[in-house]
Order: sequence, then structure tokens, then C-alpha cells
Amino acid sequence: MLPPALLLLLLPLLPLPPALGAARFEPTWRSLDARPLPAWFDRAKFGIFIHWGVFSVPSFGSEWFWWYWQKEKIPKFVNFMKDNYPPDFKYEDFGPLFTAKFFNANQWADIFQASGAKYIVLTSKHHEGFTLWGSEYSWNWNAVDEGPKRDIVKELEVAIRNRTDLHFGLYYSLFEWFHPLFLEDKFSLFHKRQFPVSKTLPELYKIVNKYQPEVLWADGDGGAPDVYWNSTGFLAWLYNESPVRDTVVTNDRWGAGTICKHGGYYTCSDRYNPGHLLPHKWENCMTIDKFSWGYRRDAGIHDYLTIEELVEQLVETVACGGNLLMNIGPTQDGTISAIFEERLRQMGSWLKVNGEAIYETHTWRSQNDTVTPDVWYTSKPKEKLVYAMFLKWPTSGQLFLGQPKATPGATEVKLLGHSQLLNWTALKDSGIVAELPPLAPHQMPCEWGWALALTNVL
Ligand SMILES: *[C@@H]1O[C@H](CO)[C@@H](O)[C@H](O)[C@H]1NC(C)=O
Ligand SMILES: *[C@@H]1O[C@H](CO)[C@@H](O)[C@H](O)[C@H]1NC(C)=O
Ligand SMILES: *[C@@H]1O[C@H](CO)[C@@H](O)[C@H](O)[C@H]1NC(C)=O
Ligand SMILES: *[C@@H]1O[C@H](CO)[C@@H](O)[C@H](O)[C@H]1NC(C)=O
Repeated sequence: MLPPALLLLLLPLLPLPPALGAARFEPTWRSLDARPLPAWFDRAKFGIFIHWGVFSVPSFGSEWFWWYWQKEKIPKFVNFMKDNYPPDFKYEDFGPLFTAKFFNANQWADIFQASGAKYIVLTSKHHEGFTLWGSEYSWNWNAVDEGPKRDIVKELEVAIRNRTDLHFGLYYSLFEWFHPLFLEDKFSLFHKRQFPVSKTLPELYKIVNKYQPEVLWADGDGGAPDVYWNSTGFLAWLYNESPVRDTVVTNDRWGAGTICKHGGYYTCSDRYNPGHLLPHKWENCMTIDKFSWGYRRDAGIHDYLTIEELVEQLVETVACGGNLLMNIGPTQDGTISAIFEERLRQMGSWLKVNGEAIYETHTWRSQNDTVTPDVWYTSKPKEKLVYAMFLKWPTSGQLFLGQPKATPGATEVKLLGHSQLLNWTALKDSGIVAELPPLAPHQMPCEWGWALALTNVL
């Protein structure tokens, strides 16, 4: 690898693509926002979000446990502590109980690979401030000094990079609920910048250099503007100089007011799923447990989305140009509960059959059908393919599609996972009716949702 300075000198001589590599980014949103998103991200479509930390020890209510208990004093959380812990028990006392005793990064990596996901995003630090690596800026409040006594981030990075073809990504919370320097800065209306200078920024540079994440998922601006965090300065370094400058993608949570407006791809809000096409790449980050990102022992079976609901999320999201980032919360001892593992493996089995309609696809001129509800489209223009994904198998055996215009003699209709071409007829002006094969349940190529590949339709 050439040092960046030398590379700059050679620039005029090298046939570098103009988009990445050659561009120098200024620490302004105008410049940073113009960076093309590295292509792997849009092709990937599906990633796994992992919320893990000290909040996984009480594993009650939500990963916001500390805040709800001590700041908002919500009775449910206050009473949980009263009923189960001694009166002087502090949140910090959960640290040593975060054992990760059964954590096996290879096992996790194999489950993620089986899910069909193409990237993961691990909470390297959530709002509680506990870092999953041995941060020198987080004395005695990190996974190497306390709890697991292991570099969790490193172990997972190695397992993902060594055993899978997934991209490795990190979530990082800019602010920390109760960090004294952050609270002082906040009291000064963010005129003081002690916290970002001595904590956030050093840690951000560190995790990028040390673990080379290809997704950097910022969160938690704490109400402070991007100038407080020096987000544009950091991102200019990330895009110009960092070891992941050519492949890293970031999101849009880089300071108050940046969400859905600045940065890399847009997340807009948690569980964002607009149901229509957006002009900018976006991601739907959502949870299998409807009510929490962290693991919680008080979740009942109906609190988890069913595989049908998850497939629907994926299909809708991808049809509208988004990526799905589906969250699981491991337990404090490092296991992925059977319900999360089952959902992940179910997604993988669905994608084995239907991945062709998801990965590396583009949006089509129409996102969902105008005649039959719950039909969503993707396309591969070069291959002259349009995919119609449908979530209900019609009782009549005929699927009415209002959008595709057939080309007589050229259009072909195939059900993914089924070998024979299907018969079809054209509707009057636009649209076709596909004759689905009469299959017994055990002959179905998959469950929960299906995809037709339409060749040569307009
Ligand atoms: C990576 O995988 C190879 C083969 O599976 C193994 O021999 C090696 O020890 C692994 N490296 C690490 C750092 O785990
Ligand atoms: C912001 O970050 C850039 C790049 O690291 C640095 O040059 C600049 O001094 C920083 N500005 C502030 C105000 O911290
Ligand atoms: C297509 O999707 C939009 C947005 O979700 C919805 O309003 C509309 O009803 C859908 N059309 C059909 C036919 O389901
Ligand atoms: C397609 O239609 C023809 C003529 O009606 C019929 O013979 C054939 O079995 C049908 N093929 C399939 C796969 O349904």
C-alpha cells in the first residue's frame, strides 16, 4: 500500500475511477454528501444488527434499562430493581455479571452466514458507554477490563472475516447518557467540547483503524449538533485517509438535524419503511422483538415478529430501494436464543430460493402491484428480468399482475425454485395472469412468500 501522500502525487498518472479513490472530500456536508455509496452496500440488501452490552444482563424491558430506571424512574424498572437486587445495587454492578461465558464468535458467524445476510453491525458501544473492546478511553468500563475480559469486537471481526463472505460493521453511540464530561458539555449548551475531544473522536478513530469496519453506524447525538461532534472532520478523514476509505459506508446519524439529510445512506427513523421509492439509498433498521433492541427475558412469543412478517419487511424494503437491517439481541452469556436463531435460519432458507429476486437487484418502475395487494417488484434491467414477489398464494391458482406489459412471443414466466415455465395470458391493456402450478405443500419451493421471474416484460 502506498502512503496517501505518494498516492496523491501519482494521481494524475493512474487511471483511477473518478468516483472513489481520486476524489478528495472536504469537511463539509456538501462535499461529503456527494460521495457515491460504495457499490457493495446496495447489492447486499440484507444485514443483521446486533445489540449487545451490559444492558443484556438485566435483560428486562429494553436496552434503555439504565435510563428508564434511574433517569425516568419508570415504575416497571424501579420495581424490577427493588424486587430483585439489593438496595445499593448500581447499574455499574451489572458490568462484572456480563460474562459472555458461552460466546463463540465462530458459532455466531456460522448462524449469520446461514441467514443469507451480507453484513453485520455490532454495537461496539451503546448509550451506556460500555465498550465491547478494550478501549483505553473507557477505563474499567469495557469488555477487556471487566465482564467477559475479552475483546469481543476483535473475536467477531476475525470470525466474520475468516469464515464468511459478510461485511463487518460497527455501531457506535456518539453520546453517553451519564458520562460526566458529556453532561458538563451539555450544561454549557455544547460550547464546551470535552467529551467528543477526549472520548468520542479518539474512540471512533481507534475502532476504524483497529477493526476496519465497512459499515460505521453512528447513533445517539444527544441533542448536540454535528459541529460539536466534528462529524464532518471525522468523515473527511474516514473517506480520504482511513484504511476503509474505499469500501466504508455510513449512515445519517451524525448530529442533531442530520438524520435523513446528511451522511451516507439514510435511516430516517428506527423501523423506517416508507412503502414507496426514495431518491436516496436508505436502510430499514428494525427488530425481531417488536419492543426492544437488546435481549429481554420478559418477551413473550407474540412479541416476536413471525417469519411471514419478516419476509414481508424484506420484500417491501428492497422493492422500495432500501436495505433491511434486522436486529437480534444476544443474551449476557453470549448465546443467540433459539427464537432468534430460528428466524435467522428461516430467512436464509427463504433467500436460498428467492435470493435471485433480492440480491443485486434494482428497483423497478413500479414498486407494488396495482391490482393484487402484497405484490412487490424488483428488477435486473441488464438481464431483462422483473421479479414479482407475492406474499399470498392465490386460492384460484391465478396471480393477476396489473403492472407488467407482456411482449408476445418473448415473455417468459418462471416461479423461483420451480423448474417448469408457467403458462400466462396477457390482460387487455397492461398486465398478465400467471397460472401457478398446483403444488401440494411439500412440493412448494418455499414458504411465506414466492417470486415470479418475468423475462421480457415492459
Ligand atoms: C481462520 O480459519 C482457518 C481455517 O479455517 C484457521 O486455520 C485459522 O486459525 C483461522 N484464523 C483465525 C485467526 O481464527
Ligand atoms: C475536526 O477534525 C479534523 C480532522 O481530523 C481536524 O483537522 C479538525 O481540527 C477538527 N476540528 C475540531 C474543531 O475539532
Ligand atoms: C402499494 O403500496 C402503497 C404504499 O404502501 C399502498 O398505499 C397501496 O395500497 C399499495 N397498492 C396495493 C394494490 O396494494
Ligand atoms: C400450459 O397450457 C397447456 C395448454 O393448455 C397445457 O397443456 C400445459 O400443461 C400447461 N402447462 C403448465 C406448466 O401448466
